[in-house]
Amino acid sequence: MHMLTSIRTSNGKIEIIDQLLLPHTTKYVEITSVEEAYDAIKDMKIRGAPAIASLASLAFAAYIQSGLDSAQPPAFLLSPESLSAQVIHKLDYLSDARPTAVNLGAAIRRLKAVLQSSTDAGKSVELIAADLISEGKLIADEDFDRNKRMAEHGGEWLAKLDRGSGGSGQELNVLTVCNTGSLATSGYGTALGLITYLHEQKKLGKAYYTQTAPYHQGSRLTALELKTMQISSVMICDTMVGSLFQHHKIHAVAVGADRIARNGDTANKIGTYNAAVLAARHKIPFIVVAPISTVDLDTPDGSSIPIEHRKQLEACLVRGAVHPFELDDEGKVRQETVMITPSGLEGIYNPSFDVTPADLITAIVTEKGVATRKEGQTSFDLSGVV
Ligand code: MRU
Repeated sequence: MHMLTSIRTSNGKIEIIDQLLLPHTTKYVEITSVEEAYDAIKDMKIRGAPAIASLASLAFAAYIQSGLDSAQPPAFLLSPESLSAQVIHKLDYLSDARPTAVNLGAAIRRLKAVLQSSTDAGKSVELIAADLISEGKLIADEDFDRNKRMAEHGGEWLAKLDRGSGGSGQELNVLTVCNTGSLATSGYGTALGLITYLHEQKKLGKAYYTQTAPYHQGSRLTALELKTMQISSVMICDTMVGSLFQHHKIHAVAVGADRIARNGDTANKIGTYNAAVLAARHKIPFIVVAPISTVDLDTPDGSSIPIEHRKQLEACLVRGAVHPFELDDEGKVRQETVMITPSGLEGIYNPSFDVTPADLITAIVTEKGVATRKEGQTSFDLSGVV
């Protein structure tokens, strides 16, 4: 099945699909430095918690590799001490590109741990550098396989749940929020991966997805992914979730996560909490699908998850409006950003994420399996999952 690719690498070259231009223009841009990776993440040319971590790790690995390859080794490769100082500097710089998505922080912690253990083992500067490069590439590469494992765990669990309540385990209609597919990861996706898996197993009825204002990851990106994979789907506006649940049989809501606290409280794209409240009201299972690297045991509950607030102006704009009869110099459909408010509004509230409390979540699916809350408990015990 054809899927879109958010990051592609060949012969040391890293390219990302510019997600700001999707769905109408597919353009890959090269990332040639850690600083360019930081800007691409901050500006949301690439987004989605796992994809952010993959790009940061690959750009970091490429930076170390280019130092090793240069005829005149840069100063930071002269000793383990100078390498260590530079690595910590670069990783700390990358760490605040997007504050809510914890996968980036987890990747950085892993790279720092490799630095520490290779240095403690008394390795040469070249070998420490080689270990860092391998780990950076591994962080990006391992994402695809774990996504497939999550999709299978979650998809089979949901089909079984449906059979348990008298259904056939087939033709499951699943609502998702935002974009959690191959564009948001190194491939296949998390919640959208679960939907893709159900489709592949001929167990999917329809995929429903919200537009996901104000950034429209749903209508721009999830729509494009589902169309590319030829998965039967229906787009709804964010305001239509309640109506959808009242008038259509929806078997589950499946969403991704940017950070899952120790008790299971989950930060995800703004609007996820609304969908969870409505799902609880309609007794629809609400499933979070995310890799273990999204679980942050250092964060006790949702109240301590840092929530990124984006620029106020972003909530006033619709990106990607099209003038179908006007083509740009390259013959492509012209895109515009249209302002949908009067300028100079007094107040604009624009948090990028919200927190869904654990008691509204039916299951958390990771590559290790499916965690559910114990009977009568309002929180998850995720210590066995991580
Ligand atoms: O602001 P974004 O587009 O990076 O937000 C993305 C989400 O909220 C996703 O649901 C989450 O990162 C999981 S992606 C597999």
